[in-house]
Amino acid sequence: MIEDLKCKEKKIAVVGLGYVGLPLALEFSRKYSVIGFDINEARVELMKKHIDPSNELPTEAFDGCDIQFTSKEEDLKQAQFFVVSVPTPIDSHNIPDLKPLLSATESVGKALKKGDYVVYESTVYPGATEEDCQPILENLSGLKMGVDFKLGYSPERINPGDKVNTLTNVLKIVSGCDAEALDTIAQVYGSILKKGVYRASSIKVAEAAKIIENTQRDINIALMNELSMLFKKMGISTNEVVEAASTKWNFYKVTPGLVGGHCIGVDPYYLTYKASLLKHHAELISAGRKINDDMPHYVANQIIKNINAVGKVLKESRVLVMGATFKENVSDIRNSKIFDVVSDLVSFGIEVTVIDPYASAEEVLRHYNHPLSSEPTGTYDVIVLATKHDDYVKWTEADYRKWAREPFIFFDIKGVYKNNFKDCKYFSL
Ligand SMILES: NC(=O)c1ccc[n+]([C@@H]2O[C@H](COP(=O)([O-])OP(=O)(O)OC[C@H]3O[C@@H](n4cnc5c(N)ncnc54)[C@H](O)[C@@H]3O)[C@@H](O)[C@H]2O)c1
Repeated sequence: MIEDLKCKEKKIAVVGLGYVGLPLALEFSRKYSVIGFDINEARVELMKKHIDPSNELPTEAFDGCDIQFTSKEEDLKQAQFFVVSVPTPIDSHNIPDLKPLLSATESVGKALKKGDYVVYESTVYPGATEEDCQPILENLSGLKMGVDFKLGYSPERINPGDKVNTLTNVLKIVSGCDAEALDTIAQVYGSILKKGVYRASSIKVAEAAKIIENTQRDINIALMNELSMLFKKMGISTNEVVEAASTKWNFYKVTPGLVGGHCIGVDPYYLTYKASLLKHHAELISAGRKINDDMPHYVANQIIKNINAVGKVLKESRVLVMGATFKENVSDIRNSKIFDVVSDLVSFGIEVTVIDPYASAEEVLRHYNHPLSSEPTGTYDVIVLATKHDDYVKWTEADYRKWAREPFIFFDIKGVYKNNFKDCKYFSL
C-alpha cells in the first residue's frame, strides 16, 4: 500500500473535512494524492478556494497540496485508503448519535474494493468500528473484512487553538484488524508524523484509549468543580488551594471550569452508553458528567445571588459576558456552556450582552438564539470573563471598570486575575 501511495498509483480519501479531517487531508496530500470528501457542499466550495471553513488553518496551509475536494460520493471510488473523520455527537438525551458515522461508512462501503483499507478517526466507544461500522462496509461492498479489505482505528489528538501540540507534533495511536493491517496503517501515518505512532494491540484498545483520555480530564475537572462549590461555602479560593497542593510532586493540577466543546463534554457519554448496554452503570463517569453539566446553572445562580445581595432588581440589571466560544482563542461555539449561563440569566429578566472576538454573530444567533454584540454598550451590573481569550486577559482593572456600574461585580470564571482587583466583588470558580 505505502509504495503504491508514494508513486500515486493509489489514493487516500479523507471523509469528513472538519477540525480533524481537513488538517489530516492536507498533511497527507503533501506526500500522497488525496480525495477530500465532505457532504457539505458549501464547505467544499470554500476549501476549493483554499479557505478553511473552521477558521483554524491559513490559506498557505493549502499550498503545494495534491488534493481534490469533492462532495460527490462517486469520487471516492478512486481511493484505496479511506480515513473517516466525521462528527460523533450526542443527541438531546446524551445518547451517541452515530448517524454521521454510519452514513459516512455507507459512502465508503459503496466505494470499497479488494485490497482497500478503512481507518476510523472519529471518537467512538470501544466496539463501534468492528460492531457498528464493519457490517455496513461488508454488506455494501460484498467483501469480507480481514480477507478482502482491512480495518483500522487511529484516534485524533488535535487540540483546537493549540499551535504546539499539532497533528504532526504528537505521538498518534494506530491500530489494525491484524498484524499486516497494523503495519501498513503505522507506515502510512508514520510517514507524515514527526513524533511517529504508537501501535495499540487492537482496534478496541485504541478506541478505549481515546475515550479515556477525555473521560479522565472530565472527571478531574468535575472533582475541582465540586471542590469549588464546597470551598466557596468555606470562604476559601479553589485556585489558591490548587496552587498550594500543586507543590506536591504527584498532585495532578487541574482547575475548575465550564466543560463545553465537542470532546470532553461529549465523549464520556459514549462510554456510559456502551457501559449501559453491558448492564454496567458507570457511576463515577456519570457523576462527573452531571457535575460538569450543572456547572453553568451554579454560575448563573451565583451571579443572581450577587445582584440580589447588593440590593439591585434583577429585571433592571445588565450583565456583560465576555467570551462565547467553548475555549480560548478559537471560533468554535459548539456545545459552549456559556449560553446555559446566559439563558438562565435571561429567564430571570436580566439583560445580557455577549461579546467575543472570534465567534461568528450569525452562528451564535442560529445555535443559541441570542445576539452577539460587537462591543459593550453603556454600563453593566456584572461583568463575566467567561473565556480566557488573549484579547481579554490583557485588560486591566481600569479597562473592565469602564463598563461597570458600582458596586463593581466581576465574575472571573477561570480565575485569571486571582482576586487582584481592588474594591470589587470578585468571584471565580
Ligand atoms: N475537533 C477536535 O478537536 C477533535 C479532536 C479529537 C477528536 N475529534 C473527533 O473527530 C471527529 C470529527 O470531529 P470534528 O471536530 O473534525 O468535526 P467537524 O464537525 O469539525 O467536521 C466534520 C465534517 O464532517 C462532515 N460530514 C458529516 N457527515 C458526513 C458524511 N456522512 N460524509 C462526509 N462528511 C460528513 C461535516 O460536513 C464536517 O465538515 C469526531 O468524532 C470528534 O469527536 C475531534
